[in-house]
Amino acid sequence: MRLQDKVAIITGAASGMGQGEAVRFAKEGAKVVIADLNIDGAKSVAEDINNNGGQAIAVKVNVMETEDILNCVQIATETFGPVDILINNAGVFDKYATSLDTTLDQWNFYLNINLTSVFQFANAVLPGMIERGTGSIVNIASVAGLVAGKGGAAYTATKHGVIGLTKHLSSEYARYGIKINSICPGTIETPLVKDVLANIPKDLVPTRTFGQVEQVADLAVFLASDEAKFMSGTAVPIDGGFTIQ
Ligand SMILES: NC(=O)c1ccc[n+]([C@@H]2O[C@H](COP(=O)([O-])OP(=O)(O)OC[C@H]3O[C@@H](n4cnc5c(N)ncnc54)[C@H](O)[C@@H]3O)[C@@H](O)[C@H]2O)c1
Repeated sequence: MRLQDKVAIITGAASGMGQGEAVRFAKEGAKVVIADLNIDGAKSVAEDINNNGGQAIAVKVNVMETEDILNCVQIATETFGPVDILINNAGVFDKYATSLDTTLDQWNFYLNINLTSVFQFANAVLPGMIERGTGSIVNIASVAGLVAGKGGAAYTATKHGVIGLTKHLSSEYARYGIKINSICPGTIETPLVKDVLANIPKDLVPTRTFGQVEQVADLAVFLASDEAKFMSGTAVPIDGGFTIQ
């Protein structure tokens, strides 16, 4: 198993990609903390993992709240031990809202959930990782962090920010044995995009397919594991070739 006994916090793991990552990480031997605002969904994912021979707990976390983030790291540490892996996955989509159609409140909402939470959660686990000289952080960005047109103004800005923050964190903390990378999914079939999926033409994707959560989970396992030891500050697209065009 590739993540045997590693303690992993996965945000937004009650649904979609985070759920897929949680299930996959548990199968690889990780002890998983399902951190989500949707506590019922988080409990159900944890129960499913525990019923299938894995180890998981659910923790109610609003990633916009510093106190929730610190509390989650404390519960993870008390329950399973020091945090080895952080997957910053929680995110919200602005459904392509243009800049002129985005209020300041909406802008701050997307910024807080999609970007500020990555900064806050990373800061909550980095001191322990530095002390132990090991750790892995995987930030779920998007192809909207690489190009325009895959989200609205706020979503595009926040996902570019996630990639920039990933690079910065790597430049500061890779020297302590901490791997920090981001994943840039194209369209993945999850509840987040169910309302807009029908309007996204598949012929814009070279593979002519949308992605599945399991495919992103496989990449997250690789980036979180020792196999990716020499990867630092990357933004890895998993998009059926969308961004090669
Ligand atoms: N689905 C796609 O096509 C796609 C493509 C590129 C990137 N992404 C990114 O992948 C990540 C996961 O997306 P998904 O498609 O699995 O979405 P999803 O809607 O299925 O899951 C998102 C999860 O985040 C949780 N969440 C939302 N706000 C929260 C908050 N304030 N605090 C804690 N949890 C919160 C939700 O409860 C939910 O469980 C997001 O960062 C998204 O931007 C998705």
